[in-house]
Amino acid sequence: MKIAIAGKGGVGKTTISGTLCRVLGKNGNAVLAIDGDPNPNLSVVLGIDKEAEMPKALSTDIIERIEESEGKWKFQVKIPFQEILDTYGQKAPDNVSLLMIGKPEKAGTGCMCGSHTVVRELIHSALAHEEEQIMVVDTEASLEHMKRGTSQYVDKMYTVVEPYYRSLEAAGRFADMANQLGIVNVEAIANKVRNAEEEQAIREFCKKINLPIAVILPFDEQVTDADLKGVSIMDYDKDAKVVKAMEVFVQTLELN
Ligand SMILES: Nc1ncnc2c1ncn2[C@@H]1O[C@H](COP(=O)(O)OP(=O)(O)OP(=O)(O)O)[C@@H](O)[C@H]1O
Ligand SMILES: [Mg+2]
Repeated sequence: MKIAIAGKGGVGKTTISGTLCRVLGKNGNAVLAIDGDPNPNLSVVLGIDKEAEMPKALSTDIIERIEESEGKWKFQVKIPFQEILDTYGQKAPDNVSLLMIGKPEKAGTGCMCGSHTVVRELIHSALAHEEEQIMVVDTEASLEHMKRGTSQYVDKMYTVVEPYYRSLEAAGRFADMANQLGIVNVEAIANKVRNAEEEQAIREFCKKINLPIAVILPFDEQVTDADLKGVSIMDYDKDAKVVKAMEVFVQTLELN
C-alpha cells in the first residue's frame, strides 16, 4: 500500500504522516516513511532520537541523464531503490524506517539536474519499488514532486484540510491536481477540528466538491505540546485524542 499525504502549508501533513506510520507500525506492519520536504521534520514526529547518527546525505550524483531518442533526455535513479534504502535510510521506533529525500546535496559532477528532479525521480523510484511494506510519502506543500506515471503506484492520496476557507479551497485544488496526475483514490483528512460547527463546514465543502472524508482529527493540545518539546506525539502521550482517532482510522484502511 502506498499513500501520499498532501495539503497546504502547516495543515498537519507531517504530524499526520508520522503518526500514521507509527500506528501502522505498532500494528505489526513494516512501514517506510518518505520525507519529501526540503525542510525535513518527519524524523521528530516519528520519534527518531535527535542524538542518533544522521544518515549519509543523498546527492544529485545518484541520478543519471539518459538520451531516450535523438535530442530527448530523461533522468533516472542509477542505483536500485533497495540500495538507496540501505545506504540512506534511518530506523525509527515501531518497525518504521525513514528516508529523507527532500534536500539532496548538489554534487559537483553527476546529472546536471536540479534538486527538484532528484526528489521527483526518487519518489518515482520509491513508489515503483515492489516490497512488502507500507509506504507513506509526506509531500511538500505542492504536488510538483509527483509526475505522470507515478500515479499508478499511489493507492491513496490524502489531502489534509483545516477548517478555514483557504485550506478547504487548497484541498480542492490538490484533489484536482491529483486527478490530473491520474491518482484515482483521493480523500480528505480533516485536521485540527475543534467543534461540530467546524466539522460541519468541512463536510459541506467536501460534499460540494465530491471529496470523500477519510477521517476527522480533532484539534489536540497534546500535539502542540509534543511539538514544542520536539518529541513524537506517540511517545509523548499514546492516549492523545489524535492518536486514538488515528488508531480507529487505521482499522478502516484496507492494507494490501
Ligand atoms: N490535530 C492537531 N491538533 C493541534 N495541533 C496540530 C494538529 N496537527 C498538527 N498540529 C500542529 O500544526 C503545526 C503544523 O503541523 P505540521 O508540521 O504537521 O504541518 P505540515 O502540513 O507538515 O506543515 P509544512 O507545510 O510546513 O510541512 C504544528 O505546530 C503541529 O504541532
Ligand atoms: Mg511538513
